[in-house]
Amino acid sequence: MLTCASHAAIGVFDSGVGGLSIAAAIRQILPHENIIYVADSANAPYGGKPEQVVLQRCQTIVEFLMAQEVKLIVVACNTATLTCIAKLRALYPIEFVGVEPGIKPALNVSQTGTIGVLATHNTIKSQQYQQLVARLKTQNTVLSQACHGLVEKIEAGEFDSSATQMLIKQYVLPLITQGADQIVLGCTHYGFLSRQIRGIAGENAQLVNTSEAIARQTLAVLTRNEMLNSSQQQGQTMLFSSRCNPDFLAVSKLLWPNEIQQAHEFPH
Ligand code: DGL
Repeated sequence: MLTCASHAAIGVFDSGVGGLSIAAAIRQILPHENIIYVADSANAPYGGKPEQVVLQRCQTIVEFLMAQEVKLIVVACNTATLTCIAKLRALYPIEFVGVEPGIKPALNVSQTGTIGVLATHNTIKSQQYQQLVARLKTQNTVLSQACHGLVEKIEAGEFDSSATQMLIKQYVLPLITQGADQIVLGCTHYGFLSRQIRGIAGENAQLVNTSEAIARQTLAVLTRNEMLNSSQQQGQTMLFSSRCNPDFLAVSKLLWPNEIQQAHEFPH
């Protein structure tokens, strides 16, 4: 593993703005850490792309973050984590924290034994996801729902349009009808639609979001490696995007107010 200065930043990336939900959770419990966030907006969504393409994009971003001398990389994307985090770990001498759908925490609190998982096509078809579900489904029911089109709506800042509402209904209502009492947000983008999803799921189902758990895991990894920033100053966040235009900046500011002032072009 690389040895990095404790004041080095934490690198966080996603296909787009979804991982800002993870970055914000990290900021909550690690106020003194610097964060470099990369949104691969020009290539979002990753959820339906061939595995090789997702891996290649992730490598490009990881190499950029390593050139910025980050001390840890948070793959703030379920799709990228399930598609290729094992390969990234084998390729690069840096600690990675990944994010996966919170299936086990959801089943731990489920009363009906039936849960619904909202995720991308690639997450659901990944070997790791399929194996986990196969192990758990002897005693429980895990309903997996690929949510085509939802990431694009969030990237476009369309949180309350009727088209977005229709997609949420289409994906969430069948889960509720089949008895799901927990809805796992298995894509970091979907946390930004929590209010809208809750509105459609109603009171019989709770949402399960893993961002806080990922932030705590980031804290644990930094602590274990003695890499916590000892500075008492408020940490800074730098935002990069491969589609760095005013619309991207506007959506990012909306999703993480007070933290995002400007965005930089991701140079790849
Ligand atoms: N936010 C991502 C995830 O958690 C990626 C969604 C996508 O690009 O399709 O899966």
